[in-house]
Amino acid sequence: MFVRLICLTLGNFRTVTKRMANSGATNSRRSSLHGNWSSKLAFILAVTGAAVGLGNIWKFPYMVGVNGGGAFVVIYLVCVFAIGLPIMMSEIMLGRRGRRNPIATMRILGEEEAGQRRWALVGIVGVVAGFLILSFYSVIAGWTVAYVFKAATNAFANTDVTTISEMFDTFVGNPFVIGFWHTAFMTVTVTLVALGVERGLEKAVRIMMPALLALLLILLGYAVNSGGFAQALKFLFEPDFSKVNGEIVLSAMGHAFFTLSVGMGSVMAYGAYLPQEASIAQTSIAVVIADTLIAILAGLVVFPIVFANGLNPAEGPGLVFQTLPLAFGQLAGGGLFGTLFFLLLSFAALTSAISLMEPTVAWVIESYRLSRRAAAFVVGFIIWALGILTVLSFSTLKNATIFKGTFFDNFDYLASNILLPLGGLLITVFAGWVMCSNSSSDELDPAAGYIYKAWRLLARFVAPVAVLIVFLNAIGVFE
Ligand code: TRP
Repeated sequence: MFVRLICLTLGNFRTVTKRMANSGATNSRRSSLHGNWSSKLAFILAVTGAAVGLGNIWKFPYMVGVNGGGAFVVIYLVCVFAIGLPIMMSEIMLGRRGRRNPIATMRILGEEEAGQRRWALVGIVGVVAGFLILSFYSVIAGWTVAYVFKAATNAFANTDVTTISEMFDTFVGNPFVIGFWHTAFMTVTVTLVALGVERGLEKAVRIMMPALLALLLILLGYAVNSGGFAQALKFLFEPDFSKVNGEIVLSAMGHAFFTLSVGMGSVMAYGAYLPQEASIAQTSIAVVIADTLIAILAGLVVFPIVFANGLNPAEGPGLVFQTLPLAFGQLAGGGLFGTLFFLLLSFAALTSAISLMEPTVAWVIESYRLSRRAAAFVVGFIIWALGILTVLSFSTLKNATIFKGTFFDNFDYLASNILLPLGGLLITVFAGWVMCSNSSSDELDPAAGYIYKAWRLLARFVAPVAVLIVFLNAIGVFE
């Protein structure tokens, strides 16, 4: 009762009382305009599909390499569990309570909990981040699709480090070729979002994810025997904190947001379709563990190949495209495994790309009364056009560098290291401080009291303070 009173005085009295009159005083149960997931498992699969993607297999290994290894891995793991997990729970919770697109959800909940519409800003930050991320994500996904065909035509057989590297350099150096694959990938993404079949993809995720895991295990078998395994273990798990600086910590945190798909409303949009009885905590924990496992496995596959072949761990975005083909070239049945692997990775990228578009498309549909098709097309076209700058970042505009590097580098930095943590910060502050504890405990497993307490501690104190410290540290405030 006491808490309720505080909530009432903090909130806009009129909206709250109006809402209580409508909803029988406890909790308003809205329903989504876009229908619900068919089951709890369907939701877990959808969030896993959003989380597992290029972030785990393409980005994680190259970030580890660029940022010096073990220390980056440790900081990333801490960020995933102490910051990413509570934010994922907060995001899904807000999504389910608001049952609208992220901008409308934050506006409605802001009004309801605090009498402030300005929380819609969180959703707007998310839309911008989604545009930036998908614009380059689609280009890299295009590389993956192209590599399906290379593997299928046995292009990796009888190759060595030099030919594989040359193959990659020639490929990304041709803007027409990678522009073509970017266009193809974006077309498929837009088509699926336009048809609104996201929720039909759950069955595919159910088969593809275990298959991807199985192929990673086969590759792990190869990597263990490649001759570089011991060195890779040392590189990945022996942290040397003396080389860590503010930028590295910021990148590790940014990557934790990126890989879990939190901070921009993707999982908030998915939470809007979540049936009321599903457990948010269980889902989030399962997804976070699966996501982390796949990333670590990818690292355990890539780095032995790097060290066994004398490659540079800090090679950058080309790293997986220059290591895995070597393995496929030497493995028995490598043509088949390679084809399957890049196919599954393309599919994982597709389910992530869809989740990057969904918040913006849902928002455009709800606020401009466009059809799903028109909304998907308009949003997709803008993202595609923006993606051309990333296409050119590997050839024509390679040397056109400002601030953090090429257009691609800047889009990634701005979205992953600034916008996602900023969105995440606002989300936890809202869920932990602004939202009344009655509302949050009502949404988050009222039965499992200790999980709620742990979430609240992390969401109120640990996550927001950590994000702030990492931000301030990166801009040199503590030096
Ligand atoms: N997490 C996905 C990956 O690892 C990418 C992704 C999907 C994403 N939705 C997102 C990243 C939302 C940031 C925010 O490939």
